[in-house]
Amino acid sequence: MRAILIGFMGSGKTTVGRLLAAALATKHADLDDLIVQRAGQPITAIFDQHGEAYFRQLEQRTLANAIHQPGILSTGGGTPTIDSNAAILTASPVPVIWLEASDQTILQRVQNDDQRPLVNELDTQALLALKQRRAALYARAADLVIQTDQLAPQQIVTRIQTWL
Ligand code: S3P
Repeated sequence: MRAILIGFMGSGKTTVGRLLAAALATKHADLDDLIVQRAGQPITAIFDQHGEAYFRQLEQRTLANAIHQPGILSTGGGTPTIDSNAAILTASPVPVIWLEASDQTILQRVQNDDQRPLVNELDTQALLALKQRRAALYARAADLVIQTDQLAPQQIVTRIQTWL
């Protein structure tokens, strides 16, 4: 991969990843999509039928493979918060970019989404507490942080391209 995007659910990893890949004339891969392909089930069904621990195993195997592919990788919100995944990210030379967004922005984007098991499980307070706990773990994994609230997706892409 040429760059990996991390950040909380709803931070824009997939949107920005697609645009960045287009700008760099390379492929885009979404880790959740790769997991769904591997499992042959949607994320919600994986969580419901097998539990989060099983999802995390699939996620780790998929990440370990995807990191060696060309292109831009958008991860899931939990990916860099798992030690084994963080170790994969740290060991690789691929730059890791954290898309940071405010609580308000995240809530607006994810609250009515029934495709995210953790959003379905957690109330607003618990979701924001999770976001806060994860911030230190995103910071640990990231080579670049972008505060995205005031930026349009294309502006975020331009910043990343300038930095890369
Ligand atoms: C998760 C985020 C999701 C997906 C899964 C778990 C998380 O990805 O990987 O539902 O732990 O934050 P998105 O960040 O793309 O929603």
